[in-house]
Amino acid sequence: MEKPYSAACERNREPILEIMKDVITRDEKRLLEIGSGTGQHAVYFAPQFPWLEWYPTDVAENLKGMKLWFDEFKIPNIKAPVRLDVSKDDFPKLKFDVVFTANTFHIMHWKECKSLMKLLGHRLRENSKVMIYGPFKYGGAFTSPSNEEFDQQLKTRDPSSGIRSFEDVNNGMIKNGFELVFDYDMPANNRLLVYKRLKFSK
Ligand SMILES: C[S@@+](CC[C@H](N)C(=O)[O-])C[C@H]1O[C@@H](n2cnc3c(N)ncnc32)[C@H](O)[C@@H]1O
Repeated sequence: MEKPYSAACERNREPILEIMKDVITRDEKRLLEIGSGTGQHAVYFAPQFPWLEWYPTDVAENLKGMKLWFDEFKIPNIKAPVRLDVSKDDFPKLKFDVVFTANTFHIMHWKECKSLMKLLGHRLRENSKVMIYGPFKYGGAFTSPSNEEFDQQLKTRDPSSGIRSFEDVNNGMIKNGFELVFDYDMPANNRLLVYKRLKFSK
């Protein structure tokens, strides 16, 4: 099996890293990545935060491929990847300070997005952060013609996928105990949403 490769990861990693450097502090010790895909993001980001334990996860069929990257690069703070299908599984039983997920909301069905937000609200403690990267619609409108085209392509492949409304995601996060801290404008009509868990109330 050849290492899986994502060209998009190579393009977006630098601007994401710039934001991560502002968001992730030295007090934060564990990061959970959801939908790690090829594993390229973990390989690029984890060495920049050597004090942070990076926990990559994804659905079962992607673990073998990302492991090829991890075996080659041997980055000490990347943990062994584990299965996490947000509609079926719980997080590893650890306290996570940061959750990062890139380009997953438009792939997951809306039901899965809601499961993910519920899981985040259930498992993260006060002041934990969530970083969600990807394209979103605002006020019901696409932010560019290319995003509209992308949405059509996604729906042709899988009618239940598609670019989500920022408002739906934001309401879902608020409902599960988070507040929006930043909404960064990113290259190629993407956004990076940063949330903070409010006082744990359940
Ligand atoms: C477009 S890829 C993004 C991968 C990587 N984060 C990136 O930015 O290149 C979407 C990812 O979401 C994952 N995914 C889809 N449904 C999921 C689910 N129910 N639970 C967890 N991950 C899921 C896919 O397996 C895939 O790795």
